[in-house]
Amino acid sequence: MQVNLTQAISLLKHGEVVAIPTETVYGLAADASNDKALRQIYAIKQRPADNPLIVHIADSNQVPDFAAEFSPLAQKLASAFWPGPFTLVLPAKESVSTIVRGNQPTVALRVPSHPVTLQLLKESGLALAAPSANKFTQLSPTTAAHVTAGLGESVPVLDGGACKVGIESTIVSVEGDDWQLLRLGMVPEANIYAAAGRFALKNNLSLPKAPGQHLLHYSPRTPIKLFPSREDLNGFAVSQENCAALVFGEGALPNCPYFSLPNRPDEAAERLYDTLHQMDTLKANLLLVETPPNAPEWLAIADRLTRAAHAN
Ligand code: TXA
Ligand code: MG
Repeated sequence: MQVNLTQAISLLKHGEVVAIPTETVYGLAADASNDKALRQIYAIKQRPADNPLIVHIADSNQVPDFAAEFSPLAQKLASAFWPGPFTLVLPAKESVSTIVRGNQPTVALRVPSHPVTLQLLKESGLALAAPSANKFTQLSPTTAAHVTAGLGESVPVLDGGACKVGIESTIVSVEGDDWQLLRLGMVPEANIYAAAGRFALKNNLSLPKAPGQHLLHYSPRTPIKLFPSREDLNGFAVSQENCAALVFGEGALPNCPYFSLPNRPDEAAERLYDTLHQMDTLKANLLLVETPPNAPEWLAIADRLTRAAHAN
């Protein structure tokens, strides 16, 4: 069910959930201070309760409402990457709902750059907890139509067009002077390093992990098999029936129905989930996917495809 901005604000203020656009993927939003509304998010998504939610805010002035500490390093990263596809995990204030935090001592915050969402956040005055608007483990939606196909007509959707970034935000946790990358996204680690002025901690056990980063994630319904090269994929495709392929850029193409993503990482990310949603409708037995180029700017896309392939 489509709603306009005024209706979305009214529903959210009355403790209802609304699917909202962001520049990364559509989110299933609720007032971050309303536990009853937050429980609905988990129910609709069929998401485990220990899987925390990202709180979307209009600007960094709202950080102290949620975070017990907004260190100089965290402030630097916020001013470098907000608004944008970047989430900060910070030590939480006691007052932040344990439902939002999934019982963690931390809270995840993001200022999205989508103009409709920013307007929604500003006009409503609400902070909105929003995970991706899909059932647990399934593909994230990048259009209003994907949301309705995945969650049903009864979920109100604010249509803001197709998402431009196309994959979920980069997540970084910050504690004092240290930072750690929790989820790959289209803000690359090198840019975070440049803004932070220091390297990330690797596998430091004192910093929180991101719960809910199951390998089984971001999956279309059709099983996926990843191939290290186009030659391997083409060789396998010859002997297969009822499969479809996903490749990057040009070159020798497989002998089965195929989709091609652009050879630029930002353009490929923008189209990745929509393409996988389309491929899912083919009712193929198997999706053959070429591994993207082995370069830092492709890591987030490779991460999502690896997780999708792991589901079978
Ligand atoms: O781009 C995005 O981040 C999208 C849009 C809607 O903003 N949201 C999104 O939410 O991808 P979701 O729920 O699918 O993924 C959020 C992830 C969780 O799985 C968890 O790993 C991490 O964020 N997270 C959230 N709160 C956390 C916390 N307090 N500590 C550690 N990790 C947290
Ligand atoms: Mg998700």
